[in-house]
Amino acid sequence: MRICIFGTGYVGLVTGTCLAEVGHEVVCVDIDAAKVAGLNRGEVPIYEPGLTPMVKANHAAGRLRFTTDAAEGIAHGDVLFIAVGTPPDEDGSADLQYVLAVARTIGRHLQRPAIVVDKSTVPVGTADRVRAAIAEELAARGVDLHFDVVSNPEFLKEGAAVEDCMRPDRIVIGTDSPAALETLRRLYAPFNRNHERIVAMDVRSAELTKYAANAMLATKISFMNEIANIAEQVGADVEMVRKGIGSDPRIGWHFIYPGAGYGGSCFPKDVQALARTAQQHGVEPRLLDAVEAVNAAQKQHLFALMARHYGGSAQLRGKTVAVWGLAFKPNTDDMREASSRTLLAQLWDAGARVQAFDPEAMDEARRIFGARDDLRLCDSAQAALEGADALVVVTEWKQFRSPDFARLKAALADAVVFDGRNLYAPDEVEAAGLAYYGIGRGRSL
Ligand code: UGA
Repeated sequence: MRICIFGTGYVGLVTGTCLAEVGHEVVCVDIDAAKVAGLNRGEVPIYEPGLTPMVKANHAAGRLRFTTDAAEGIAHGDVLFIAVGTPPDEDGSADLQYVLAVARTIGRHLQRPAIVVDKSTVPVGTADRVRAAIAEELAARGVDLHFDVVSNPEFLKEGAAVEDCMRPDRIVIGTDSPAALETLRRLYAPFNRNHERIVAMDVRSAELTKYAANAMLATKISFMNEIANIAEQVGADVEMVRKGIGSDPRIGWHFIYPGAGYGGSCFPKDVQALARTAQQHGVEPRLLDAVEAVNAAQKQHLFALMARHYGGSAQLRGKTVAVWGLAFKPNTDDMREASSRTLLAQLWDAGARVQAFDPEAMDEARRIFGARDDLRLCDSAQAALEGADALVVVTEWKQFRSPDFARLKAALADAVVFDGRNLYAPDEVEAAGLAYYGIGRGRSL
């Protein structure tokens, strides 16, 4: 089938590439000319396992093209995907200006019937606004064409985006048009083998499903972080509690890891946006507001542990702190809303110096922080330790999981480790002569 995708961010680029991989003819449109030129040379602007070779192979095979020319994309596509960003507005609600700009562009150029698919995470009711924007432009041209607007939210995770896209656990399609549903069934047939993954529903339910999924996962994390804070105070170990509850299939093992708080481009933004939607419709989002408040506090928890260890934040002045992990989670270079940013800001406020290492996010860190005297971006985990007083682990990259604790002890002047993702066994760290702080591990207080 012939597909056009607007937006070559995470969602658009991965979706377009995977659709090309299974044989569809895909044209991706982006307004960023430098990005489009780079993609046409095989340069993928994000780090995502498996993506670059797939982009190159499908581009070489002629099934995947990149252009800034919206008219060309619209002329090509029978199905037009909107996968542009929906950044938070000042009040936390989703800013739809990019989505609606694409809708108007479609209305200005459409020459034949089409299916328009919202893949961006958009508030309930957006499909209606997209439909109205397209209709307005068609009417201005005096053109009468049939088009459907479908909600088809994306559930891919950064760091596993290609895998999630190639092997989705569900494909949510929201539409009131049987014909549009049938077309999308054909489009997704290569991804819908062995058992039925398509969940068809009305447009508004599909739009809400996306937010409900992310808000539920964020709720699990904030819940566990609250339990961790209780564990810390009552002298329990939340890691034991996690093992004790995860085996209940009604609770499950996923997303019950306490830590330094959730970040990324989705959870923080989507929880806030859903809360605003609730308010706009007269529903008080008590739980969602709490999920967000718990997370904001959790991002400051590592610093609070450090201040406690040193006897007050003033004692951190002049300290050199090694930080392992800057990305908001492993296997990505993305630092949006990352917990590391909160920690670094607090350390700098307190007058500490930071020596940081992340396996993928160094360029991103350079771009965000620029050159500053109190930050050294290091080439390796070991280099970050040289001359440091303490170590803080913020992101659970595999390569941080089993360090040589004797070497850590030798390197760290204050012999203390703050483990923001509970990667280590406290006994093992302490046996090497280091003080250990984890999240919710009351026994270490
Ligand atoms: C999330 C969802 O998991 C995807 O299903 C969804 O499609 C995506 O948002 C989206 O809306 O586009 P993502 O933001 O890539 O994906 O990252 P996650 O793997 O969900 O992690 C989010 C944050 O939660 C990370 O900072 C991670 O460290 C934290 N987390 C996760 C925890 O603190 N504890 C856990 O148990 C799990």
